[in-house]
Amino acid sequence: MEITQKIEQLKNEKDAVILAHYYVRPEVQKIADYIGDSFYLAQVAEKLTNQVIVFAGVSFMGESAKILNPEKTVLLPDACADCAMAHMADAETIQRMRKAYEDLAVVCYINSTAELKRYADVCVTSANAVKIVKELPNQNIYFIPDRNLARVVAAQVPEKHFVFHDGFCPVHEQMKLEEILEIKEGHPAALVLVHPECPESICALADYIGSTSGIIRYATESDAEEFLICTENGVRYELEQKNPGKKFYFPKTEPVCTDMKRITLEKIWEVLETGKNAVEIDRIFADQAREPLRKMLDLAAKKEDRR
Ligand code: 13P
Ligand code: SF4
Repeated sequence: MEITQKIEQLKNEKDAVILAHYYVRPEVQKIADYIGDSFYLAQVAEKLTNQVIVFAGVSFMGESAKILNPEKTVLLPDACADCAMAHMADAETIQRMRKAYEDLAVVCYINSTAELKRYADVCVTSANAVKIVKELPNQNIYFIPDRNLARVVAAQVPEKHFVFHDGFCPVHEQMKLEEILEIKEGHPAALVLVHPECPESICALADYIGSTSGIIRYATESDAEEFLICTENGVRYELEQKNPGKKFYFPKTEPVCTDMKRITLEKIWEVLETGKNAVEIDRIFADQAREPLRKMLDLAAKKEDRR
């Protein structure tokens, strides 16, 4: 029996569902029940009725699914698949900022450990950060951990005062401006679609800045035929699936999140078969970290209702 059939069989036996981020390998995206950006996956995780969730992504994603579903089993295909940025802020600096600024909201990018989320007022993703920051009553915003997303959000919410933490995504930070300019020169008609985790010099070239889902949606709805994609190369699969006639260029040194690529079909089969790598979070920690996650989902929904 093929591995995909074996996974399907185990999924039925164990009442399991597979969630995958756009950065995982194409063969993993292909077998996923739900695929999307961090916001979509958090929304889905909250509404699922299955007893077991296999999260094909990095550990903070599995942690968020577990925090939102404490009674369910959340399995990580690879327990070592981690996000470097998720560890780049710290509780001590947060406490210091709370003392230094009155009327402060600690806004925590979902790409953070559960430990860190406990100290935040609200979580955000790249898809909803602007909406949520605008909804907050606070004048001062301490945005952790990503300085690049913070900068993009601050530019769209000029009425608030921002303090940026100094974290970053190594995959987006290391993209080379020269390589992007070179592709632009060769394909002047290509629209430049950029993830907000990219540094300022790359965002400055963008025709559109948005989350992975936002980039895919923009390319799909656009009449343009060519796009220069400035994010991790896993999005190519969905871009090509949805847009067979269009051309997608990536920087010559393709941005690859090696942690996302650790997720394989074999590892998904193994955790379904054995139940290993179940996410465990201390109950009190989970209760504390759930508040900012729930607040994110509530504020995002509130805005959607108003449209
Ligand atoms: P989004 O899919 O939310 O845009 O996030 C990108 C990312 O880096 C996830 O780790
Ligand atoms: Fe983290 Fe960057 Fe990988 Fe996303 S691409 S999971 S932010 S290291």
